[in-house]
Amino acid sequence: MATAAVLTAAGSGTRLGLPGPKALVELAGVPLVVHAARRLAASGVVLSVVVTVPPGRASGFRALLGGPVRPGIGVPVTVVEGGGSRQASVAAGLAALGDDVDVVLVHDAARALASPALIRAVEAAVRAGHRAVVPGLPVADTIKQVGAAVDGAAPVVATVPRATMRAVQTPQGFDRALLDAAHAAGADRAADEATAATDDAGLVEALGEQVWVVDGEESAMKITTTRDLAVAELLARP
Ligand code: CTP
Ligand code: MG
Repeated sequence: MATAAVLTAAGSGTRLGLPGPKALVELAGVPLVVHAARRLAASGVVLSVVVTVPPGRASGFRALLGGPVRPGIGVPVTVVEGGGSRQASVAAGLAALGDDVDVVLVHDAARALASPALIRAVEAAVRAGHRAVVPGLPVADTIKQVGAAVDGAAPVVATVPRATMRAVQTPQGFDRALLDAAHAAGADRAADEATAATDDAGLVEALGEQVWVVDGEESAMKITTTRDLAVAELLARP
């Protein structure tokens, strides 16, 4: 039995606003997707990686990552085309996993600097018997639930107790059978970004299964905007 990763890289990076797919944007001179794949391999627990890439881009990503074992990455990488939502992309990645895989980590190329130690911690929690595990950090801001905005102002519905909140990251780790079942049950949501799940744990929760949070880390931040990219450049400094 083996642990594999689905590395999502099929997004376009609209909010980053740079030419080409976000996963190919360079951080410290290396594409985001390569940073993420290297760290998955360096964890020592991930034995293979399936990367989801934008439709029509498979050959370029294969040249960068594909083949049995690429120097500088260290585990075999399979490249598959993703879908119109992150959820659809993960589903495509899951379909390409080998038969021997019993634990899956789903990770975003956009979280390029998540450390091998975090990857190991999530995997270990799944192997210890937690079938769905996500890393999370306490939130600094006060969080309010709001209703629909009217004339530029949204009514507050509730103030959520901040100490009970966690901002959730990737890699998210799962018992493979549970994650397959969660994606099958939620498949009708995948076609449309508006209904699709924004993380895999949400699909597991929708099945009524328990999801567990372990400590996340600052370096697993998601690179969404140019400001995030600048912060990641600072974090990537030796
Ligand atoms: N992703 C994916 N397939 C999609 C959409 C997103 O595999 N159809 C991946 C992205 O490549 C990224 C992760 O999901 O690694 C998180 O998505 P996000 O940060 O929103 O990236 P983008 O969708 O590329 O960015 P934007 O929403 O600004 O266009
Ligand atoms: Mg997106």
